[in-house]
Amino acid sequence: MPTAPFYVIGNWKSNKTIDEVVIWARDFETLYKKQPFSPAKVKVVVGVPFPLLTTLKSLVMLKRLPFELAAQNVSSYPAGAYTGEICAEMIKDMVSFSLVGHSERRKYFKETDEDLVHKVEQARLAGIEPVYCVQDEAMAVPEQVKFVGYEPVWAIGTGKAETAENANQVAGNIKKRLNRAVTVIYGGSVTADNVNTYVKMEHIGGVLPGGASLKPDTFYNLILNAATS
Ligand code: PGA
Repeated sequence: MPTAPFYVIGNWKSNKTIDEVVIWARDFETLYKKQPFSPAKVKVVVGVPFPLLTTLKSLVMLKRLPFELAAQNVSSYPAGAYTGEICAEMIKDMVSFSLVGHSERRKYFKETDEDLVHKVEQARLAGIEPVYCVQDEAMAVPEQVKFVGYEPVWAIGTGKAETAENANQVAGNIKKRLNRAVTVIYGGSVTADNVNTYVKMEHIGGVLPGGASLKPDTFYNLILNAATS
């Protein structure tokens, strides 16, 4: 039976300008041409802010870059009179995934479990796969979710990653509790240096690097290390 690829889902958060996207894509392309990785081993996804999606999508198609795009958020409402919102329909041709319920969304933008259920529904109606973020193993996960991001808040942006063994145990507990096929992705200070420890774990299907995805070379090293672990 073929094994599923290991997911590497970068999260740029609220960073980068259009000019910086162009440079990032150019440098990523150079690295890929020099040393390609096998997409059968590692599936790369890059989560970028809404205003950068069209530029990066065009560059991915033009240069045939080996990754898909994700949104970092999606509206809990459909298209309509919701000023300032970005609904799933608008982005469905550009992204395959969307983060939903990242701890920063919950903390700074007061997103509630109820909002997040609607976000999951809207994403799935448009054919976008939600990556539903939880900060511990006991948090609610909506039924339609197939990808769960486990991201302990204390490990985000601190350089203090959860050990692979602990993350694996939490991922196993999440799977057991949900009792259905889900892929659990670990996030929190994942780098090129520690990614190999997560790849080896039974219940961890991928990683969600934030800071380490911002520079093409650190991100690319992380991908290569995941691919060769
Ligand atoms: P970090 O962020 O890799 O910078 O810790 C991870 C995340 O918040 O998704």
